[in-house]
This record gives sequence, C-alpha cells and structure tokens, in this order.
Amino acid sequence: MCGIIGYTGFEEATGKVTCGLEILEYRGYDSVGICAKGQDGIKLLKTKGRVSSLNEALSKSPIDSAFCAIGHTRWATHGAPSDTNAHPHNVGRTYLVHNGIIENYKELKAELEKGGVKFLSETDTEVGCALINKYYEEGCDPHTAILKATGFMHGSYAFAIMFEGEDNTIYAVRKGSPLIIAKGIDGYYLASDLTALLPFTKVYCSLNEGEVVRLTKDGAFIFNKGEPDWKVTNMSFESAKKGGYDHFMLKEMNEQPNAIKNALSPRIKDGLPDFSCDGIDDSFFEDIKEIHIVACGSAMHAGLLAAPIIEGLCMVPCRSYIASEYRYNPPFTQKGTLVIIVSQSGETADSLASLRYAKSQGLKTLGIVNAVETTIAREADFCAYTYAGPEIAVATTKGYTTQASLLYLFAVAMSFKKGITDKENAKSLTECLFFEAPQVVEQTLERGEEIKAIAKEIYESQSIFYIGRGLDYALSQEASLKLKEISYVHCEAYAAGELKHGTISLIERGTPVIAIATEEALFDKMDSNIKEVKSRGSHTVLICTDKMENAHACADRVFVLPRSSRIGGIFGAILAVQMIAYEVARLRGCDIDKPRNLAKSVTVE
Ligand code: M6R
Repeated sequence: MCGIIGYTGFEEATGKVTCGLEILEYRGYDSVGICAKGQDGIKLLKTKGRVSSLNEALSKSPIDSAFCAIGHTRWATHGAPSDTNAHPHNVGRTYLVHNGIIENYKELKAELEKGGVKFLSETDTEVGCALINKYYEEGCDPHTAILKATGFMHGSYAFAIMFEGEDNTIYAVRKGSPLIIAKGIDGYYLASDLTALLPFTKVYCSLNEGEVVRLTKDGAFIFNKGEPDWKVTNMSFESAKKGGYDHFMLKEMNEQPNAIKNALSPRIKDGLPDFSCDGIDDSFFEDIKEIHIVACGSAMHAGLLAAPIIEGLCMVPCRSYIASEYRYNPPFTQKGTLVIIVSQSGETADSLASLRYAKSQGLKTLGIVNAVETTIAREADFCAYTYAGPEIAVATTKGYTTQASLLYLFAVAMSFKKGITDKENAKSLTECLFFEAPQVVEQTLERGEEIKAIAKEIYESQSIFYIGRGLDYALSQEASLKLKEISYVHCEAYAAGELKHGTISLIERGTPVIAIATEEALFDKMDSNIKEVKSRGSHTVLICTDKMENAHACADRVFVLPRSSRIGGIFGAILAVQMIAYEVARLRGCDIDKPRNLAKSVTVE
C-alpha cells in the first residue's frame, strides 16, 4: 500500500529512486512522484499513472546534479488518483512522501486551515506535511518538528522527508508502516521494502516503531540510539526479477516446487517435523487448548484449509478468522489459545492489528511470515518464516502454497508431540508433504496445454462458480479469489451441497461450474452435485484425483490430477486453479501482475 524510497549519496539520485520505484510498484501503482535536490533547489515532479509516466516526465524535464531524492508510488486511499493527490507533497519548506493513513487528518486539517494553511490535495498526507512544516517553520530542528507533529497524529505512517535548509539530508520516521534503511558504497537509502534496494546494496536495518532517522551521504543516525545495527540480507536482486517469464505470477507459480521444499526443509529432522529452528520445542505444544488462525485474503484461505487438518490431527478446536473482523468481533479465547498470524508480506495492517490484539489479551502468538524482518515477524512471540523468496505478483501463489504446507507440517508436529499421531504416520505425512507435494506441483505445471483448453472454454463467461466439499471447499475459496482478482470475471465459491439452497438459480445455459474433488470419501456426493448443475445447463469442469472412477461420465471436461496421496491431491488442485486463473486473465488481456485497484501489501485497515 504505497511504496516509498529515498537516496542521498555521491551519485545521481533520480535514476536510483525511479529504479527502486519500479520494484515498489507492486505496493500501489495509480500515481507516482519524486522530489530531488538539484542545482536550483528542490524540484518536484509527480503524475497520475505508473513509473513509466514519471520517467517520461523526467525525460522532458530532467533533474540534473541531484544527489538526494525521495520518491513514492501510490495506492490511493484519501483522494482519487490524480497529479495533485500524488506524492511527494510540499507545504512551505517541507517535502514529504508517506505510506499509511493519518486517521485524524480532518481535525488536524481544520486546525491548520484556521492558521492560514491552504491545501491543494484531498490527501491526509498533505496534512501531515503541513503539520511537520508548521513546527519546522516555527524554528524547531527537523527531529523536534517531526516528533511534535507525529505526536498529534493517529494512524500509521512511514514518512521520508526533505527540508529546505537541510541540504542532501533525508529524515524518516515510522509507526505502523514498514521502513528499511540501507547503506551502500555510494550513499544511504531508505525504502518500504528491502527488495527495492537490492540493486544497490544488501546492508540494511529495519527501523523500529517511532524511531526517527537522519540520512546524509556520510551516514545514518537513529535519534536517541546512534549508529544503526546493520544486517546483511542473503536475498539477491536476481530473485526479485522476472527471469525470462512473461509475468512474475508465472515465475512464482513455477517456483512453487522449490518454495515448498524451502519452507519445510529447515523443520524436518530425521524424517520427522521439528520446529526447534523457530524456537518451538515440545513445551510449546503442551498447553495449547485451541488455535485461531488469523489472516487476510489468500493467507486466510490457507488457514481455512489448515484448520480442519489441525483439528483432525491434533484434536484441538481450530478456526481461521478474517483479520479485519477478529478484534471487532472477538471470538472466545482462553489461557491456552494459540493465535497464528499468517502473512506473506508480514505488514498487512489488519493482521498486524490482530496480532497486537492477541498479545494484549495475553495469548501466545506465532507468525507464519514470508518477508523477513517485517513487523509481524518481529512482534509475534514466535515466527516461522516460509522462505518462499520475494513474491512480486499481486496475486499470491507461492506465498499461499508455502503457508499451507507449513501449517500442515505444524499440524503433524503438534499431533506427534502430543502423542496422537505415531512416529510412523508422522513420518509418512512429512514425507508426503516434502517429496510428493512438490512433485505433484511440478507435474501439474507441465500440463499447461490442458489448462489452456479449459481457460479457452470459460474466459468469456460473465460468471463462474467453483464448488467443493470439505478441504476442496477451502480450495474453491482460494480458486475463486485468484480468478476474480486477476481476470475480473465474477466468480463465487460454494460448498457443493449448498448451491441448491439458493444460488443454483444463477446457473444458466453455459455457466461454467468448476468442481474440485480430491476428497475420496466425498466423490459420490460431488458426483451428484455436478449432475445437478449440469442438468440445468452449466458447463462443468472437474478437477479430481485419479481415484474418482466415473469422472469422465460426470463432467464436460475433466482434469485428472497426477496420481498421489491425499496431500499431493490438495497441492495439485491448488496449482490447477492458479493456472486456470492465469490463463483466463491472459486470454482476457488483463494486467496480470498488477490487477486494477489492488496493491500487494495492504498496510491500511
Ligand atoms: O501479505 P499478506 O499475506 O498478509 O496478504 C494478505 C492478502 O492481502 C493477500 O493474500 C491477498 O488476498 C492476495 N493478493 C490474494 O492473491
């Protein structure tokens, strides 16, 4: 949700900032801007559109000899995407970019207007800029001006700020929104996320809540602390590039066999699950009476898939909750409720707020997070990284499969430690997850032509339904989200037995209904449900395991998953639906990696 970047150093700044903005575009891409200190003072350029529009503007109006700049790519919250609402904002002698939301901006704005400030945009950010500028112009030094102003702000922010009179210096502060600073051989950087800085350096430091930092070409200084505690990332710039694929989504889908292995391998010892690398020992499981998985979007769907598996294997109640509801409609908790927060980005505002809520209730928390050193990873009592590598496409693929596989392994670990699953079964489940699931994923990926044929039959439809029972219903929900997110086709997921309680009235001649059937015990029921919609004219597609004997008689088109156990079937089906979404979006000419209205990292509530 908005990406910010800054650089000050010995080299030209605008190229570095626009390069970082291109990488940050996944966080928002409706408008973009830069301000840089050139020979004639601070110059600001901003425009509706993407970084390519900014590059065009810069080619017409270059900012030469600028060694310090801040930039922003926006996902609009307050005020529609427009040149005026784009960041950076400038009030008086202050220039600023912002990621987050100042919730009380209306009150602050009214006060500032009384004092004579005239606002140009509809944004909350311009209000933040005006407030900091007020204290700066009243004579406060930048650090004091920032502290005084942010003291009045409610909400979340990561600000990067340039002040007239503070040449080639960037100040920054964060609360609730991510911010990383970094040190290169050519100067100092900041960004919303480390991937944007990988072309320049691997030495970074994550800022803590409330910390204010000053960057100059000679150093970084965290107020009240001093020199940052620098770390070196092992992420490579290559891993954040498309690597010859048409889209990041396609690349990331293809990375899944390895991603699943990377997620699981640190937690397997002698063929058995072992989470000791995450600080989780036997005692961790002892007092767990129930589990709440809390997350948003696909991460919540990974929870929907995992919850019945955990309940079944561990004999404790487990439910997946939507994070934006969790603390406003809080479920019953008790001493012994474990709250698992699942998040690819580690920064999703509602998931983070749920984590904080759970901690405020004294509950034990575990983060399942991909992006290293992010706020959820740092604030959770325990954190198990999914190690999927950078995920750039807005639609998550390897993020989801690694979350699902890690949650599954967690269930096996807990069941084994509690003595519910014996060693032999724990080993066999672990083996299926580690060897079979990636293999089935790989084999499914090789069947692109069959998926393309399915996509051709359905891509012009107005509306598509996914149906499934048991775990396949959870898979259907993820399948439906993936399809509508990137192809803009209306799609709904239904528990297969539920359609006839109302929604079946929407089925018309040709309406595609895609059934997922990996649950052997439910094949007969699925068979009946598919016939119900087929006899009402729908075009039926069935994704099933080879154990469903009458599959070809039952649906118009059948995609038989590679032969495998139950676990392999689940992961094969996930891949098939991701590939269907991708192919449908491609046929419809959609912007697959950057679907409209969306952003990768949702750092506002
Ligand atoms: O970064 P997170 O895993 O916390 O993100 C949660 C959702 O915003 C995310 O999964 C979203 O639903 C995806 N874009 C779906 O593909």
